[in-house]
Amino acid sequence: MSQEHWKSKIGFILAAAGSAIGLGAIWKFPYIAGTGGGGAFFLIFLLFTVILGAPLLIGEFIIGRRTKLDAVSAYQKIAPGSFWTVIGRLGVVTCFILLSFYSVIGGWIIIYLFEAIRGSLDGLSQDGYGTLFNDIIANPGPTLFAQFLFMLIAILVVAKGVQKGIEVTSKIMMPALFLLFLVLVIRSVSLDGSMEGIKFLLVPDFSKLTSESVLFALGQAFFTLSVGVSVMVTYASYLPKTQHLPQAAFSIIIINIFVALLAGLAIFPGVFSFGLEPDAGPVLIFAVLPAVFSNMQFGTLFFIIFLLLFLFAALTSAFSMLEIFVAATTKKDNTKRTKRSWQLGMLIFLVGIPSCLSYGVLSDFLLFDKTIFDLFDYTVSNILMPLGALLISLFIPLRMSKSMLYEEMALGSNVGKVFFHIWYYVLKYVTPIAIIIVFLDVLGLWDFIFDLFS
Ligand code: PFF
Repeated sequence: MSQEHWKSKIGFILAAAGSAIGLGAIWKFPYIAGTGGGGAFFLIFLLFTVILGAPLLIGEFIIGRRTKLDAVSAYQKIAPGSFWTVIGRLGVVTCFILLSFYSVIGGWIIIYLFEAIRGSLDGLSQDGYGTLFNDIIANPGPTLFAQFLFMLIAILVVAKGVQKGIEVTSKIMMPALFLLFLVLVIRSVSLDGSMEGIKFLLVPDFSKLTSESVLFALGQAFFTLSVGVSVMVTYASYLPKTQHLPQAAFSIIIINIFVALLAGLAIFPGVFSFGLEPDAGPVLIFAVLPAVFSNMQFGTLFFIIFLLLFLFAALTSAFSMLEIFVAATTKKDNTKRTKRSWQLGMLIFLVGIPSCLSYGVLSDFLLFDKTIFDLFDYTVSNILMPLGALLISLFIPLRMSKSMLYEEMALGSNVGKVFFHIWYYVLKYVTPIAIIIVFLDVLGLWDFIFDLFS
């Protein structure tokens, strides 16, 4: 049995950053920032990412590197036979559901890329883009095929293994993503009237903030960092003891914030410059951006570049979701990797079919008042991910000794006791309390409490 491991420190950081940066930062962030108050939302998201996301990320890294095991076995090793072993299974199931609908959006990007290259996105009216988007996603044949293609790429890369597949691909994709984004931002901020958009994103107006947008910012911080599902446990299990864990976590956080900032700077100046609405919702990127780009010189070319980068980002996140599953079911026996990647990838594709059809033939099929896509998204983002994060934040202080935690954190790093204690107590108290606030919102209790006191 050959053990997987990362070849270089930077390879690990780029792969983990690749898992973090995806649809969350590029697709979800601008639209919830757009509806959630712009600059004020961004600021709160930053605070949550640094104060709550960072300790969880470091915590998952410690569990992974300490045990050197997959997400399911890691918890079993630390707390054998206990309730806590549910955390790893929960993470695997969450990633399974998440990838099943994530790949639907991945498929939309592929279709848009194809349409942009064909030139069919040129010169439509603003409404025309909205209609085109709705027509595209309602058509089962192409969307299913594109979703299949997205999964196929993920399978091929994950089957190649951690070092040759995920690490090499991330090393090329992540820097490319930065470069392409910089081009877009330069293009976008040089538009007439772009200042409005920059102000919208960077100047906080707290009067626009609602309790709901604060809670969205919290959920978004977990989602974009891929924490709470033990993907980062799995990635860290391939690490040598020489990696500086807090430094890796902070690099990933800084890259993640930077990409969300770049996404905002690429999108909002364009939106304002052309008199479009920042709160267009989930369709913002797909229905609004083509309009923004079509008004630019070389617009189609820029849009194609944007879509490519968008696809890269979504793929590197998909790799991590499939990897956690492959690692947990092969118990890292590499001889089973290829077969398992195919079996699991195809199963995830099949499970994702109803989500894909939710925008077409199954649009009237509702469960708990939601389409299947929305139900899956809701379950993952509002229930399973915060639940996983909550359990991890309880598990670490309750089941791992402080000395063991410090020893693991200090390996490969020169962090002092002060940093360790701040990390430990924030994880022990601040993180669970904040997550419970999210749950109160999901259950509607937050509104109830607000009403009670107003
Ligand atoms: N962080 C990814 C994104 O922002 O798109 C989503 C994600 C990937 C969540 C992997 C969870 C995960 F395990």
